[in-house]
Amino acid sequence: MTHETPQRPAPATRESGRLVVLVSGTGSNLAALLAAHDDPAYGARVVAVIADRGNIRALDIAREAGIPTAVVSVKDFDDRAAWDAAVAETVAVFSPDLIVLAGFMKLFGATFLGRFGGRIVNTHPALLPSFPGAHGVRDALAYGVKVTGCTVMVVDEGIDTGPILAQATVAIEPDDDEATLHERIKAVEQPLLVEWVGRIARGGLRVEGRHAIVGRA
Ligand code: GRF
Repeated sequence: MTHETPQRPAPATRESGRLVVLVSGTGSNLAALLAAHDDPAYGARVVAVIADRGNIRALDIAREAGIPTAVVSVKDFDDRAAWDAAVAETVAVFSPDLIVLAGFMKLFGATFLGRFGGRIVNTHPALLPSFPGAHGVRDALAYGVKVTGCTVMVVDEGIDTGPILAQATVAIEPDDDEATLHERIKAVEQPLLVEWVGRIARGGLRVEGRHAIVGRA
């Protein structure tokens, strides 16, 4: 496990919700959150970025923004349960109000969900419950649907099965391939994720059965 604390850490203000963002890839959703979080009216601030692998663009984006980072790799642990517990410990160091999975490509186990369940938000590049899993864009194209999109959801123990917060649609063009379609999905996914993370930070989140409700009761 590696930690980096930059010279100019970005502490949450007393009023802003503390976001810990987990990443595995290019970090475009992270970049969108970072573009929003300096505005005090947004109500949330990224206080740490944690990855399951090193050498990814998302970590560079975090470092460039002066955000503390950590890498917790599965390969450094005896088994997935030990990794799960280590990620939970690392996230807990930053006392998050909300955990955002922004292109994080691992499933959590009982330890992590037991500690943070109900305050983990994920984004998926398809209209759930269609095309869950690691290849939502490819699977939608292969199936031949004409409309796909993205889903922002609360994480539960399943694979992309948690209560849905918001969805946005994207039309599939005849000449789309996985890369072109994913780029257009990301263009709607980023503002949707930013909007709903902010809404939760400002208004709170509760889950009733299949329904994720944002706003104080
Ligand atoms: C997003 O489309 C996300 O839904 C999917 O992977 C992509 C991550 O993109 N799971 P980025 O790393 O935020 O650029």
